[in-house]
Amino acid sequence: VAFSRRKFLVTGAAGAGVAAVGGAGLAAASIAGGDGDDGGDPLGADARGTVPFHGEHQAGIATEQQDRLLFASYHVTAEDRAGLAELLQDWTAAAARLTAGEDVGPPAPVPDAPATDTGEAEGLDPARLTLTFGFGPSLFDDRFGLARHRPEALADLPSFPGDELDPDHSGGDLCVQACSNDPQVAYHAIRNLTRIGRGRVLLRWTQIGFGRTSSTTSSQLTPRNLMGFKDGTNNLRAGTDQLDRSVWVPADGDPAWMRGGTYLVARRIRIFIEVWDRSPLADQEATIGRVRHTGAPLGGHAEHDPIDLDATGDDDKPVIPVDAHVRLANQDANDIFLLRRGYSFTDGIDRRTGQLDAGLFFLAFQRDPRHQFVPLQDSLARHDALNEYIQHVGSALFAIPPGVDSGTYLGQTLLDGA
Ligand code: HEM
Repeated sequence: VAFSRRKFLVTGAAGAGVAAVGGAGLAAASIAGGDGDDGGDPLGADARGTVPFHGEHQAGIATEQQDRLLFASYHVTAEDRAGLAELLQDWTAAAARLTAGEDVGPPAPVPDAPATDTGEAEGLDPARLTLTFGFGPSLFDDRFGLARHRPEALADLPSFPGDELDPDHSGGDLCVQACSNDPQVAYHAIRNLTRIGRGRVLLRWTQIGFGRTSSTTSSQLTPRNLMGFKDGTNNLRAGTDQLDRSVWVPADGDPAWMRGGTYLVARRIRIFIEVWDRSPLADQEATIGRVRHTGAPLGGHAEHDPIDLDATGDDDKPVIPVDAHVRLANQDANDIFLLRRGYSFTDGIDRRTGQLDAGLFFLAFQRDPRHQFVPLQDSLARHDALNEYIQHVGSALFAIPPGVDSGTYLGQTLLDGA
């Protein structure tokens, strides 16, 4: 039985006969026109910040990017394919409830057993929570008999010049990307999924992202990354043909189980903040190829002005330097498009150097990394002026299976056919 966190509050208030219990949250919900608990009221559901879980594609990809991230990578310890399928069924059911703002299960009826749900999201709205699940290359070894179903596009990423990858922030059999505007809601989701997976998965690493570094819809304002620059100006936008072509595995794509799915490349990119902060503004702008304050391309005036790669200055030099990030990453010039959906992170101090361990947790969705992330990163790793200030320190790749409806589970297209 689905168990609503808010209904629990409402019932509790009525039961106790205290009109004011529930406080500001409840009052705000009724002003917004309903708490969405009676179902079928899309406005009410929206007011609570509920992103539909079911659909052709998984949510959390073309979904308008939320402000907070908790990303988790797991090692699967389930003994066989049946165990893996059961895990994915349990996770699918739990994800449907969590994204609707429900507990994974009601509090235990007996006080001497642990409660089904850990409780820290009680009374909180989902705040646009999405949970996006993926399969890493290592899932397709011989443990689950899946080797022959491994997509060719899920080829291990090559190592790129300058990579300093830490195995403690890399790889994984499974991933869950939890995005929400409320970090406690994202935390609660990963914590409970991990708990449900006990005995079948082990957490390998997690990454908290505290601020989005992209926009994924045309109505969203462009945020700034830790370098102080607007990031996401030229990102793919939801609802465009370009996104459809660049992100989703098409209806005739291979393997069949990935149709409607996509691939995720995650890179933990350290930014050497102290070095960046000591460099002159003009050098920073030449490095990115944009003006820090406005976000305009060098030579332009406004953020969304077109980038003129051919423009030259009085000195006959290109206005946008040959090694500027936006020149080398230019999607039209390269004919390589990515849906970027990354987050800023800060994880304390690097004890060896006393410098901040902070940067960009780069997340990019695409139809085939072999033709998108890999050639682009290969070029950036060799030539990008940004390399003076950044280092890739973690890396992971996942096949993101298609979305589900209420009768199916995540990964069913893979496991049923296997
Ligand atoms: C810490 C690392 C990085 C930082 C700080 C950074 C920052 C930026 C900024 C400020 C922009 C301009 C605004 C925009 O259009 O979004 C940009 C654009 C872009 N970046 Fe990055 N970026 C980083 C890494 C990467 C990586 C690893 C890739 C892909 C391999 C990448 C791909 C792109 C693309 C495709 C664009 C849009 C280019 C265009 O068509 O105008 N970036 N980045």
